[in-house]
Amino acid sequence: MIQLQNVTVNYGNEWIALYQVSLCVNKGEFVFIVGPTGAGKSTLLKLLYREETATQGTVRVAGHDLNHMPSREVPLFRRRLGIVFQDFGLLPNKTVYENVAFALRVTGESSRTIRRKVPHVLEMVGLAHRPDAFPHQLSGGEQQRVAIARALVNDPPLLLADEPTGNLDPDTSLGIVQLLHHINVRGTTVIVATHDHTIVDRMQRRVVALERGRLVRDDQQGAYRPLLMLSEPMRS
Ligand SMILES: Nc1ncnc2c1ncn2[C@@H]1O[C@H](COP(=O)(O)OP(=O)(O)OP(=O)(O)O)[C@@H](O)[C@H]1O
Ligand SMILES: [Mg+2]
Repeated sequence: MIQLQNVTVNYGNEWIALYQVSLCVNKGEFVFIVGPTGAGKSTLLKLLYREETATQGTVRVAGHDLNHMPSREVPLFRRRLGIVFQDFGLLPNKTVYENVAFALRVTGESSRTIRRKVPHVLEMVGLAHRPDAFPHQLSGGEQQRVAIARALVNDPPLLLADEPTGNLDPDTSLGIVQLLHHINVRGTTVIVATHDHTIVDRMQRRVVALERGRLVRDDQQGAYRPLLMLSEPMRS
């Protein structure tokens, strides 16, 4: 699904946000991208939805070589991905139903398909009972569920989430990540960039750690920090 080979991203002349990163993610995987602030997590996700391009190296996503994708093809490519952000990005003047339906309208889906698909994804995220609510009438966790429903309604093969629990309390965060996990179990590849130690440790999924733009760890069933760092080194 994703193949990065020796990818470097420079912002401006010299700032290196990612350095020589190689990463392969197969279809159906669930991956956490972790690391301190400024480590390059968002930059890595932006590469995957072609918001940024690699200064060096190759980026392939779902069979596309993103270095060579013409700009006119980018909007269509992005519409086929599910993207979820920390600040939800909902349209404030539209209801829950309309926020989700909007993602289908822009792809030209028929009203009939919209009427079938929207209730289905709202059911999946546990919001079937609030289709007429406006974003400001919902809690943070509920708003994030709407954003996830909107990202899912086009059946994307790949869901990218940048700090999806950043503004939420611990219990709500865990609920959101469990929802992402449930989506993954149904077959969608899921990549989550996060600072949130608790959920990463709890989920025991693949963890890719970045530090100052370098990929420093890739554990199949990892914790936010590797075990060795959890305790003080033994002294003799
Ligand atoms: N548009 C930009 N122009 C210049 N530098 C940038 C730009 N975007 C990011 N950077 C720099 O690149 C580095 C990586 O940023 P990035 O946003 O990927 O980090 P992050 O790991 O997502 O951090 P956070 O946890 O704070 O979200 C940072 O040092 C940042 O200042
Ligand atoms: Mg970030």
